[in-house]
Amino acid sequence: MCGIFGYCSFLIEKDRKYVCDVLCNGLARLEYRGYDSAGIGIDGDTPESPIILFKEVGKVAALRKHIAEGFPTPLPSELNGNGANGNDNSHVQGSTKLDMNKTFVSQTSMAHTRWATHGVPSVLNCHPHVSGENTEFSLVHNGIITNYKELKTVLIKRGYHFYTDTDTEAVAMLCKYVWESQPHKRLNFTELIKTVVKELEGSFAFVFKSTHFPDEMVLTRRGSPMLIGVKTDRKLKVDFVDVEMGEERVDEQVGGLLSVPGAAGPGSGPHSKLRRSQSRAFLSDDGMPQPIEFFIASDASAVIEHTKRVLYLEDDDIAHIAEGELHIHRLRRNDGLSSVRAIETLEIELAEIMKGQYDHFMQKEIYEQPESVVNTMRGRVNFDSRTIMLGGLKAYLPVIRRGRRLLFVACGTSYHSCIAVRGVFEELTEIPVAVELASDFLDRRTPVFRDDVAIFVSQSGETADTILAMRYCLERGALCLGVVNAVGSTLSRETHSGIHINAGPEIGVASTKAYTSQYVALVMMAVQLSDDSISKAARRQQIIDGLHDIPGQIRKVLGMDKALQSLAMDMLAGQKSLLIMGRGYQYATCLEGALKIKEVSYMHSEGILAGELKHGPLALIDEHLPVIFIMTRDSLYPKVQSALAQVTARKGRPIIICNDDDDSVPESAKVIRVPRTVDCLQGLINVLPLQLLSYHLAIMNGVDVDFPRNLAKSVTTE
Ligand code: F6R
Repeated sequence: MCGIFGYCSFLIEKDRKYVCDVLCNGLARLEYRGYDSAGIGIDGDTPESPIILFKEVGKVAALRKHIAEGFPTPLPSELNGNGANGNDNSHVQGSTKLDMNKTFVSQTSMAHTRWATHGVPSVLNCHPHVSGENTEFSLVHNGIITNYKELKTVLIKRGYHFYTDTDTEAVAMLCKYVWESQPHKRLNFTELIKTVVKELEGSFAFVFKSTHFPDEMVLTRRGSPMLIGVKTDRKLKVDFVDVEMGEERVDEQVGGLLSVPGAAGPGSGPHSKLRRSQSRAFLSDDGMPQPIEFFIASDASAVIEHTKRVLYLEDDDIAHIAEGELHIHRLRRNDGLSSVRAIETLEIELAEIMKGQYDHFMQKEIYEQPESVVNTMRGRVNFDSRTIMLGGLKAYLPVIRRGRRLLFVACGTSYHSCIAVRGVFEELTEIPVAVELASDFLDRRTPVFRDDVAIFVSQSGETADTILAMRYCLERGALCLGVVNAVGSTLSRETHSGIHINAGPEIGVASTKAYTSQYVALVMMAVQLSDDSISKAARRQQIIDGLHDIPGQIRKVLGMDKALQSLAMDMLAGQKSLLIMGRGYQYATCLEGALKIKEVSYMHSEGILAGELKHGPLALIDEHLPVIFIMTRDSLYPKVQSALAQVTARKGRPIIICNDDDDSVPESAKVIRVPRTVDCLQGLINVLPLQLLSYHLAIMNGVDVDFPRNLAKSVTTE
């Protein structure tokens, strides 16, 4: 969680106001990753002077207002000194107004939007964090440092004073400690950060700034995403070289900070000559620095309005920006990973990450589904020959078909899409299927074998639990496939192969179009896997014909939006709880509908397998509790009918989702009629009224739909 944004400009005159605008715009695009507080750190009057901070509890809009007032936030040491309570200050200003028109020829700046993990949302705990009173080192952080308590204990013993409740401050102090404990201050910025990072456990992405290294920035990541956008009018020259370093300290000899007493460690090892692989990028042809801007972000959506040329950092990359150049180093030499990183061209357009005519991203994304499912199928389904070809799987088909088990691993909505397709995989492939929640899968240390095929489904491709589960399976030799929306994400890079669902950027915290596109992509995968089976040919053709009609059917359900809004108002507004029931293919729809409703409207909602009704949930039924029955026609229809009868017999209040040609639903019930499709695709249609109901309930309950409380779009911590 948390969003990081950084901006460096070299040899281009920019004033402070411009820099702050760039930072806030970047943060606004990342706000979906966390939105309980936001802050920026910009250059003082010279790059050597202390960093200037603006921090505010709440969303980026509040931070913008604070910046417009022009009075920076005092340092944590000053806040404490003034008796401010770190837990309840939400808006704190200094007394000196900053000159926002001051211009800089080169500058480095950073920004952060927070989803609190350690310490409540407050100005004190808001990023950027600094190394005490003199702000020698400042940083923004995404992730969790799991050994921060140990670090803090050691640093406190050595006289360092802490002001916040965060894990991040320990890293700022560690920078200061490493700097102060080297006798001749010879470490350059990269070496210093390497020394620091070697002491850290957990997951992180960092941007560091230091008054000792004016106009420089160091970035690094492990387990949390980070990319660098590059903008220059000049032709980029990317120069990857092996640099011969003389009289260079061996990295390993500056490690072991906690175990080395006193000032030993940095600078104390013998010198040696070594050869280091380093990528040197963005030099002009004549070797002179050129005007250039770098945009650092947790996610491509934040840089797209500036540049489409980006470079994704890998775990343990240490990127150093200075004098208009970018150098990538590896944390440890000879770790088997090259430090050469390609510059990729983003394919998303700015319009895709704007709300356009819609009030909310969630609403826009619900309405995008007729197109997003087409994009998932584009170039992959041939409706004439009724065949499907997913390029990423082609080479792996024989291995998958020989697999002992298909192991689907995911979280939240993505997990529900796996549940939705479990039946069709079992039917078409006849391979045993297991569907696992990533966190539980890891908690159980589930046995995984070399002939397992593990499929990781994730919109963001950055969900920590799913990534850890993937690495767990990789270590055990399973074939690992990703079904991912975000191109370039960790999951898509680290799996052996997979499918991009191509749903386009999903910004709303509640996942909608990613669900339907995951569903379609997974059904396509099941169909492709079975295309060696003649006995399944008719079923495959039925499914492909069904897929052909899905976009039009989605459009039809979206046309019922007004009626659904009225239904939400008449039957669900003000209710405390809602059950959603169905079985077979529709169990996933119940789970997903209930998740949507609870996460955006805050109404308690539970998805229940109708077959389980009599084993407990029936006790909840009375004349007050609304129950949505998913009762579209399939082989289990009579069984759902009988569950409905049990509910109506107890004076329950059913709302029935049924097919538009169904004339056997009780007259008395409130009915939502949806188009009929193939049984295994019906969930794609049935989930839409639930998405729309949840949206309208959220609006009625006054919830900021795109930013439901306590949630973040990308859950990059365990
Ligand atoms: C719910 C929702 C979450 C995500 C879950 C996994 O609307 O969005 O439940 O589905 O956090 O995220 P990804 O798919 O990015 O791995």
